[in-house]
Amino acid sequence: MTKKIEAIIREEKLDDVKAALRDIGIVGLNIFEIRGHGRQGGIELAGRAGTYQVDMLPKIQLNIVLSDHNVEKTVNAISRAAQTGGPGDGLIFIYPVEDVVRIRTGERGSRALHYEGDIDSKRLPG
Ligand SMILES: Nc1ncnc2c1ncn2[C@@H]1O[C@H](COP(=O)(O)OP(=O)(O)OP(=O)(O)O)[C@@H](O)[C@H]1O
Ligand SMILES: [Mg+2]
Repeated sequence: MTKKIEAIIREEKLDDVKAALRDIGIVGLNIFEIRGHGRQGGIELAGRAGTYQVDMLPKIQLNIVLSDHNVEKTVNAISRAAQTGGPGDGLIFIYPVEDVVRIRTGERGSRALHYEGDIDSKRLPG
């Protein structure tokens, strides 16, 4: 089974999270620069003309598609590296992935996610 981890983290935590992922052997990933808010609905900022509400705060969305058996380890690595303990540390969503196609070779499924030295490659037979 293949899963997608979608982690929404603080921008300033990206380098720490990337390092933590490298340490556990994650090779393939991508990021988006996004805006959003959680249950606090944003933050109130003080300006010269008084306070104003910023409702869509910048965050980083980090996407990793990987084998099921590496999900917990990866989620734990992201959580440890991204946590400050304050509101806005982010959320992690986990989705099932139907299929993967590597365009160059036509490989499908977990074969298409087989990178030399990657966390998933260590559990492939042969
Ligand atoms: N229900 C949601 N669906 C999609 N994206 C969300 C949702 N809730 C939050 N987000 C995204 O996650 C980011 C970070 O959320 P945040 O960490 O503030 O979550 P929270 O539930 O409010 O937790 P906390 O109380 O720790 O702040 C938001 O800026 C937004 O981009
Ligand atoms: Mg919040």
